[in-house]
Amino acid sequence: MNERSQWGTRLGFLLAAMGSAIGLGNIWRFPAVAYENGGGAFFIPYLFALLTAGIPLLIMEYTIGHKYRGSAPRSLGGISKGFEWIGWWQVLISFVISTYYAVIIAWAVMYAYFSFGQQWGDDTGGFLTGNFLEMTDPGKFGSIVPSVFIPLIFIWVVVLGVLVRGVKRGIEVANKIFIPALAVLFLLIVIRAVTLDGALDGLNAFFQPNWNQIMSGQVWVAAYGQIFFSLSIGFAIMITYSSYLGRKSDITNNAFITGFANSSFELLAGIGVFAALGFMAMATGQNVTDEGFVQGGIMLAFAVFPEIINQMPFLPGVFGFLFFASLVLAGLSSLISISETYIAAVSEKFNISRTKSVMFGGGLAALISIAYATQGGLVLLDTVDHFINNYGVALAGLFEVVAVAWFAKGLKDLQSHANSVSDISLGAWWRVSLGVITPVVLGYMMLQNIKSEIS
Ligand code: PHE
Ligand code: NA
Repeated sequence: MNERSQWGTRLGFLLAAMGSAIGLGNIWRFPAVAYENGGGAFFIPYLFALLTAGIPLLIMEYTIGHKYRGSAPRSLGGISKGFEWIGWWQVLISFVISTYYAVIIAWAVMYAYFSFGQQWGDDTGGFLTGNFLEMTDPGKFGSIVPSVFIPLIFIWVVVLGVLVRGVKRGIEVANKIFIPALAVLFLLIVIRAVTLDGALDGLNAFFQPNWNQIMSGQVWVAAYGQIFFSLSIGFAIMITYSSYLGRKSDITNNAFITGFANSSFELLAGIGVFAALGFMAMATGQNVTDEGFVQGGIMLAFAVFPEIINQMPFLPGVFGFLFFASLVLAGLSSLISISETYIAAVSEKFNISRTKSVMFGGGLAALISIAYATQGGLVLLDTVDHFINNYGVALAGLFEVVAVAWFAKGLKDLQSHANSVSDISLGAWWRVSLGVITPVVLGYMMLQNIKSEIS
């Protein structure tokens, strides 16, 4: 038996965990979700969700990985043989997500390059679906789009290259470069954005509290949903990463640091994005609060931001490059973490080397991801993303927390394990959050999603 790989330093682990958490969700998802769900008032349900679900679950996942020292299937299986499949379910979801996350990063690589000459022209939406994704040419439907295919291969070479080098020499080194670089680039973007004309209008629109909204269940579901996705919990990631911690590492403390770092980045992104939107509104004679002006997701990054860049008074290419390079760095560190879940699980289950597991598991993911680099790939991506986000993730989290908190040895065992290495002692807050609040919220979320699907 080989010695289990281990992080070189505590900071290495923290940067890797933050690298996983800080991703596209912080940059393009959080700002729009917060805006649509109460603006400034959203911070109340959001903080509540962070403290009653996000951080407690993160502590739970760190403890499971640290105690059982295995990939998600092996660690959950260590609590009870009957839980192993929950780990495999999470690994499968991560595998699917990795196939399309890579594609989005590939787009960002190309857009970083397009930034210099604003190659997207004036009709940025038309450029995205037309020239770039070639979606408007049904005659050729299904064939590979070279402008997506080439950067996609590049992304997989980088990610699998990092993973082959292992935990300390690969994942840790990559995050030690990517995350500080991301912090610097993103700060520059935010500073530039808030110093633009109109920035204040954008920030006003963002922070304007709509108190009526926080009475609605919908808003609370959105807050919990954002926290789960944003902290990468229920994806097998945090269990896998914490399985490489040294015996004496503080778990609870690390979970608080990861959680607050991710939320700080999210808040910073909200400020940057809305300052830029305020600027664009002023430049084009619109209002941020106009119906449909604020968008999230793919449209925000690849249609709205190019438009913002077109309006920049000074060095637009540099601003654009910084923005898309940030997406690439944030995305890569997340993609590395989701891919590591199946690399680790497969290598343990079949007793094969990391290199072989990367070749088979990573190779298969890369091959499948080529399907999204075709005409119509965006439609495929949207559909898969919808099902994964609405059912896969909530279900995986629900199964995990219910199994661990209600069955087998329950939370007591994990609590004493965490308390034996941490200087923060877990008590009733932790057990109530996981045993009651999180299962109720996830269960309610599931029902809501099914209801909205039917109607
Ligand atoms: N947590 C990441 C984000 O906020 C997204 C992510 C989800 C990454 C699942 C890996 C796995 O963008
Ligand atoms: Na995040």
